[in-house]
Amino acid sequence: MPDSLVNPAVEQRVNELIGRMTLEEKVGQTSQLMRLTEEDKEAVRSGKVGSSIFASTAWAGKDMPPSAQAEFSNEFQRVAVEESRLGIPLLLGRDVIHGHRTVFPIPLAQAAAWDPDLVEQAASIAAKEGTADGIKWFFTPMLDIARDPRWGRVAEGYGEDPFLGSANAAAAVRGYQGEDMAAVDKVAACAKHYAGYGLAEGGRDYDRVEISMRTMRDVYLPPFHAAVKAGVATIMSAFHDFNGVPVAANRQLLTDILKKEWGFQGFVVSDWNAVMELCEHGIAEDAAHAAALAMNAGVDMDMVSLAYVNNLVELVRSGKVPEAVLDEAVRRILRIKFLTGLFDNPYVDPDRAGKVMLLPEHRSTARKLAQESIVLLKNKNNLLPFGENIRKITVFGPLAYAQAELFGAWTLDGVGSDVTPIAEAIREGAPEGVEVFPLSTLSDQAIYHARYADVAVIVVGEHPARSGEASSISTLDLPAGQREMIAAAHANGLRIVLVVLAGRPLSICREVEMADAVLYAWHPGVEGGHAVADLLFGHASPSGKLPITFPRSVGQVPIYYGRKNTGRPLRPGVLFGTGYIDIPVTPLFPFGYGLSYTSFHYDNLQIATPRFGVDGKGEFSVEITNTGPRAGTEIVQLYVRDLVGSVTRPVKELKGFQRVTLQPGETRQVHFTLPAEDLAFAGLDDLPTIEPGKFHVWIGPNSDEGLQGEFELI
Ligand code: GLC
Repeated sequence: MPDSLVNPAVEQRVNELIGRMTLEEKVGQTSQLMRLTEEDKEAVRSGKVGSSIFASTAWAGKDMPPSAQAEFSNEFQRVAVEESRLGIPLLLGRDVIHGHRTVFPIPLAQAAAWDPDLVEQAASIAAKEGTADGIKWFFTPMLDIARDPRWGRVAEGYGEDPFLGSANAAAAVRGYQGEDMAAVDKVAACAKHYAGYGLAEGGRDYDRVEISMRTMRDVYLPPFHAAVKAGVATIMSAFHDFNGVPVAANRQLLTDILKKEWGFQGFVVSDWNAVMELCEHGIAEDAAHAAALAMNAGVDMDMVSLAYVNNLVELVRSGKVPEAVLDEAVRRILRIKFLTGLFDNPYVDPDRAGKVMLLPEHRSTARKLAQESIVLLKNKNNLLPFGENIRKITVFGPLAYAQAELFGAWTLDGVGSDVTPIAEAIREGAPEGVEVFPLSTLSDQAIYHARYADVAVIVVGEHPARSGEASSISTLDLPAGQREMIAAAHANGLRIVLVVLAGRPLSICREVEMADAVLYAWHPGVEGGHAVADLLFGHASPSGKLPITFPRSVGQVPIYYGRKNTGRPLRPGVLFGTGYIDIPVTPLFPFGYGLSYTSFHYDNLQIATPRFGVDGKGEFSVEITNTGPRAGTEIVQLYVRDLVGSVTRPVKELKGFQRVTLQPGETRQVHFTLPAEDLAFAGLDDLPTIEPGKFHVWIGPNSDEGLQGEFELI
C-alpha cells in the first residue's frame, strides 16, 4: 500500500473532524460545483460545497475561460473557512494539463521525448505557476493508453505503450505533488480517466469500451497503478460504458482493484456529470439511483452533476447507501485537503503570481522539452541541419505564423502572444548571411516566390480544435487544402522541409514521399517556434522517438507494435495471413522510431543472465557507437517477447529505455536490468502471474529493429 497518503497526525485530524460533522455536512464534501459565483456563497457557507472547478467555462478547454486568480480563490475560501460552521476549506481544481502560463508540449509530444525527468520538471513548473493563481488541484496527468488516432484525446496522453506511459505517469505525479503537497508550489494531481477510455469504439469519444479484463490489466491499468504507487492524490473515473458497467458505477474497477488490491488512499472524483449520465447509460432510473450506484461503487466526489448533494442525505437515511460508505468517501476527501495544507494555509499570496509566471528558466525548460519531443521522420541527403549550401529559405503554410495554435488542446491559461511563430523563429535563428523570406500562407504566391529559395519550410498540420475532448475525426489525412499545397510545391521542384503540427499521428504517406525532410512537432507549446528553428539550424539535434505507431491509412486502425501474433501471421509469400490485400500490414512509422543528425551502431549484445528465476533479475548490455559526424542522443530501447504463455502474449513489449548522448566516434556500453516482476501479465484467471519460459530480447533504436538474443525465466 502506498504510504505516502497515510499520515497518523492527519488521520487523527480527519477522524476528529468527521466525528463532528452532520450528515448534511458530510454530503456537502462529496459535491463539486462547475464554477463559483456570488450565488454559491450561501451553499459554501452552509457546508454544501466541498470543491469547485476553477472558472470552468472552458468548454473542454476549447475556449479561453476567465483566468484563474488568487484573489478569486481567496474570496471563496474565506467564506468556507471563516463563515461556515466547521471551516472546512474548498479544494479548487482546474485542467492544467500541460502547463499553466508556461505551456509545454502536449503530453503525447512529451512522451516522444522519452525523458521522464524532464516531464517531471515541466510538471513542477506548472504546479509552481498554477498554485500562484490559487489552484491547488490539477486534473492531470491523463494516463489513457491510446491506439486509435481518430480519438481526439490521444493528444492528452502518453501514447500507446503501458511501460512508457507508466514511466511518465510516475514522473508527472512526482512533479506536481513533490514530497509534500502542502508546499506552497505543489498541488494534488489527478490520474485520469480511469480506465480504458482510450479504447472508445470507432475512436468516437465517449463510446463504449468492450475489452477483456486481461487486456485492461496488461495495457490500460499499468499507468494508473504507477501513479498510485507514486502517491497520486486523486483519480478521475471515466465516462464510458466498460463491458456493460459504466465506470462511474463499476465497483470492480473503483473499489476491488483501485482501493482494495492497489491500496489507493486518495479519493475518486467522477468525470464531468458522469454520475448523472448513468441514467443515459440506462443503468440508473433517476438521479437518486445514479447517486447510490456511484457512491456504493467507489466514486467519492461527484463532479458537477449535483446528484450527490441532492440525494445522498435521503439515501443514507433510507439505508440505500450505508453511512460507513459515505464516511469513507469523506475521509478520503478530507485526507487530501489536510495533505495539501488547505486547513493550515487556505489562502494564496496574490503577490506570488507576478513573480513566477513564464520565468526565463521556465521558457528554457519548455524549449528543451519541445526540442526533445520533435521527431525527425525523414532527412534525405542529410538536408538537415541546414548547411552552408542553404542561403535562401522560404517559410510558408497555414501554421507558419501560428501562435496560440502551438499550445494544442487544454491550455486554459496560455497566452498566444507569448509565442514566437515558427516563421519568425526561423528568421531569428538563421545564421549571418542566410536570407529568410517568410511568405503568406497563400500557396500560389508562396510557391511562385519560393522558386528562388534553396529550400522551402512548409508548416502544416492541425488546429487544436481537432484535438482533445469531443474531437474525434474519421480520417487521418492532413486538413483540407494542405495536401494540395505540398503537392504543388513538390511539382514546382522545391526542396521541402515539412514541419507538421498535430495532436495525433497523421497518415502522411504521400507528403513524406514528396518532402526531403520531415519534422513532426506535435503541438509543441509556448517555445515550439524556437525549438523548430533550433533543430533546423542545428542549434539542437533531434532525439525524439514516436510514442505511438503511425498508420499508413486510417483503415489500419487500431495498429500498434505490441500486437498478438495470431495463428496466421502475415509472412512474405503467405496468402492466408493477417493483413490487407491493398496495402502493407506494416505502419508508416513504427513505435519508437525517430532519426537523428548522426548515426548509431549497435554491437555486442551481452546477456549476462541467460537464465534467471521468477524472483530474480535479468542483466543485459549492448555497445552503442556514434558513427556519424555530430554529437547526438539515442534512446536505446529494450523489448522482450514471451514465446509461450498460458495465454497469447504480444510479439514485443517495451521493458526498458535509456537516453544515451555520445560524441562522434564515442562508444559506450549500455546496461539494462530487468526485474522478473516486470514480465508479469494477467493469466488465465485474469490475475497477475509470472510464468517460467523462454523469451526473446531485443535492444535497439525502435520497436522494429535491434540486436536479438534469448533468455529463460526459470
Ligand atoms: C472534462 C474532461 C476531463 C476534465 C473535466 C473537468 O469533461 O473529460 O478530462 O478534467 O471534464 O474539466
